[in-house]
Amino acid sequence: MLPRVINYLPPDITHDISHAIIRAGIAGVLRIGMDYPAEVFGIRFRNPLGLGAGIDKDGLLINGLARSGVGFVTIGSVTLKPRRGNPRPRIVKYPGLKAMVNAMGLPSRGFADFITRLGKVVDLASRFGVRVIVSLAGFSLEEFLVMLSRLRGFGIDAVEVNISSPTYRGSWLNDINRLGDLLRAIEGFDKPLFIKVPLGAGVDFYRWITEAAERYGYGLTIANTLPIKEPRISVGYGGLSGYPIYPLVRALIRKVRTWGFGGPIIGIGGVFHGWQVAELLKSGANLVGVVTAFAFEGPIVFTRLLREFYAYLSQ
Ligand SMILES: Cc1cc2nc3c(=O)[nH]c(=O)nc-3n(C[C@H](O)[C@H](O)[C@H](O)COP(=O)(O)O)c2cc1C
Repeated sequence: MLPRVINYLPPDITHDISHAIIRAGIAGVLRIGMDYPAEVFGIRFRNPLGLGAGIDKDGLLINGLARSGVGFVTIGSVTLKPRRGNPRPRIVKYPGLKAMVNAMGLPSRGFADFITRLGKVVDLASRFGVRVIVSLAGFSLEEFLVMLSRLRGFGIDAVEVNISSPTYRGSWLNDINRLGDLLRAIEGFDKPLFIKVPLGAGVDFYRWITEAAERYGYGLTIANTLPIKEPRISVGYGGLSGYPIYPLVRALIRKVRTWGFGGPIIGIGGVFHGWQVAELLKSGANLVGVVTAFAFEGPIVFTRLLREFYAYLSQ
């Protein structure tokens, strides 16, 4: 297990240390001899818990992640061209609140590099029964289309379309026509698509995107981080993640279900305990993602969450 003291060191440094440990496969996990299968878009997940986008942006950590007991891993967000992301500091942790703000700025080695190891990522994941979701980030419709066309033929299980990172500064969210063009243009991709929605948007936006997802047969990933100001981050703003956003995420999932959305939902935001996994599933999610708890605890977090989740179910 990564020592807890790591959360009190400068976050940009601990981020790098954690990556090195996971990549080397040093962070071991305990095996749990139980499954709780979920079926999404006709695909069987051995359990509904998985890693959300942002931890393994380039598909470099699969060695450790495949062994972590999860039902799925989300790789990315990957961008078409290589990006350095924002200058450091770009992460601030609030350990007492189980929260953090990040403005990574969508750093990526770029799609051409990513695709060279995607086959290996899929092979390794499938050996351990882990489903692979690829998260794409694009700054234009064309960028998304190029990446989607090059993903064909790889044995990935789904694609998540990230239109909601604070890094976009609202460029997808403030122009419904442009976003509508994107959602229409990606229809017909040969694998299930999830649209990742933001936190903090207006009810009209959520209604609109829910209807669009229903119409095109897409799933929804609810939700990305909540954009806020943070002067300690180099660019002065970032996305809040972790425990404080959990009630917002749960409420949004419930709302979308009361509107009659029938497609799959990945619920993600502030999950730190097994009961939250159960609660999000009860609220209407089909799968549950985790990022900030992973950033605080490392891959062992999945063993703990699954244990707690199974214990909760058998109460
Ligand atoms: C350091 C960090 C990097 C992230 N990078 C991405 C990303 O590249 N693409 C994306 O769609 N979401 C990204 N996210 C958002 C997470 O996937 C997730 O939606 C959000 O953090 C809420 O879940 P959590 O509270 O479990 O972290 C990132 C979050 C964090 C903390």
